[in-house]
Amino acid sequence: MPKILVVDDNAAVCTALEVLFSLHDVDTERADSPAVALEKLAHGGIDLVIQDMNFSDDTTSGAEGVALFHRIRELDPALPIILLTAWTHLETAVDLVRAGAADYLAKPWDDEKLMTTVRNLLALGEAQRVAGRMTTARRASRERMARDFDLCGIVYESDAMHEVVTLATRVAHSDVPVLISGPSGVGKEKIADIVQANSSVAAGPYVKVNVGALPADLMEAELFGAEAGAYTGSQKIRIGRFETADGGTLFLDELATLTPEGQVKLLRVLQTGEFERLGSSQTRRVRVRVISATNADFVQLLRSGRLREDLYYRLNVIELYVPPLVERSDDILPLARIFLGEQGQLSAAAEAALLAHSWPGNVRELANCLKRAALFARSAFVTLADLALPAATAQQAEAAVDGEPDREAIKAALSAAGGVVSRAAATLGVSRQALYRRMERFGLKT
Ligand SMILES: Nc1ncnc2c1ncn2[C@@H]1O[C@H](COP(=O)(O)OP(=O)(O)OP(=O)(O)O)[C@@H](O)[C@H]1O
Ligand SMILES: [Mg+2]
Repeated sequence: MPKILVVDDNAAVCTALEVLFSLHDVDTERADSPAVALEKLAHGGIDLVIQDMNFSDDTTSGAEGVALFHRIRELDPALPIILLTAWTHLETAVDLVRAGAADYLAKPWDDEKLMTTVRNLLALGEAQRVAGRMTTARRASRERMARDFDLCGIVYESDAMHEVVTLATRVAHSDVPVLISGPSGVGKEKIADIVQANSSVAAGPYVKVNVGALPADLMEAELFGAEAGAYTGSQKIRIGRFETADGGTLFLDELATLTPEGQVKLLRVLQTGEFERLGSSQTRRVRVRVISATNADFVQLLRSGRLREDLYYRLNVIELYVPPLVERSDDILPLARIFLGEQGQLSAAAEAALLAHSWPGNVRELANCLKRAALFARSAFVTLADLALPAATAQQAEAAVDGEPDREAIKAALSAAGGVVSRAAATLGVSRQALYRRMERFGLKT
């Protein structure tokens, strides 16, 4: 049951509230002075405070209430406080609401109105606690992962990517083949690197072959090797990539189609570790962990018969799908900052544009965009124009930024917040950093 601390020197007020709350399944603690209130708060377990403004018979200034309010704020900045006040002190109460009190009610209060406020505040507090617990658990899980595994410098913030990375580290140790799928430039190779770096053969060779880069018939010699004279123009013995990768990892990138014979060979080496060089009948044995990556449409390849089904199922015992950047927009700005480098800074409009763009080329496109921008920007401050994004994206971003507070609104908010930037930012509904940037642009100081 939630618990409310009622601070009032008038016992009748405490009792009335206690009765009211008990009817709504809310516990009440009472304190008849600020000292008792602070002592009870120190014990914890209070979800909300309702406080009077005067506690001694001979004072009516409200100064005691103001002092208590600030003490509670210091102890627990998140604890909601409702002020109970005489009509004559409404102004003080309003000031305190500006300073962070949840609400104020004039005595005599309206039970129903009070209960609505109380219920809302309790629900909000509960929601914030749950969210807080989740972010804490999330942060802990990410820190643990960064400590326990080599994440190869991958940068991400999104839950979607966290899931992929978690899975990659989890399957790294087994020696089953992993297939990494996803559109072009999403970071499939980065994921492959993570699987390799955390595998039991991490210390062994790590060989990468771009299968799509060679004609299918040459690929066979590239993978399995060839004896001298095995094919036209070959004078020397050629060691295949499977042999080079023995005891380690072979990354088959851009795995498109091999010749049908090549596919049979690949299937065999995956199943038994055995193969022969081209032009040789001598069977060789290797132990190789195979990771493959592709952005090809497998359904299409299988249906058209260009890829053997048994090979496909052998390669993708475990499939790691890396989603496109547009589906994990939480990653855009963290990645952008990395690509921009430490000195670089993005204008608010530039950030909005990065978030608005659809990134068909995914992380690779983002990296190129930021590197080019850093090159063309006249200072470390990268503007929307420096990004050279499509006009539609830029327009959208400008509109979004125009919805942001103007100079006058910022000035007013700052003065109302007594120059405290974080508070002004909260009232304006923007982040503290965003407000600082705007203040800088408008030449405003706190
Ligand atoms: N999460 C990330 N953190 C840091 N760098 C990343 C991340 N994702 C991708 N990159 C970088 O972006 C570039 C493209 O990534 P990568 O080569 O892994 O993509 P890919 O999915 O293999 O692309 P393709 O399908 O074209 O082969 C690389 O330089 C890579 O280091
Ligand atoms: Mg790649």
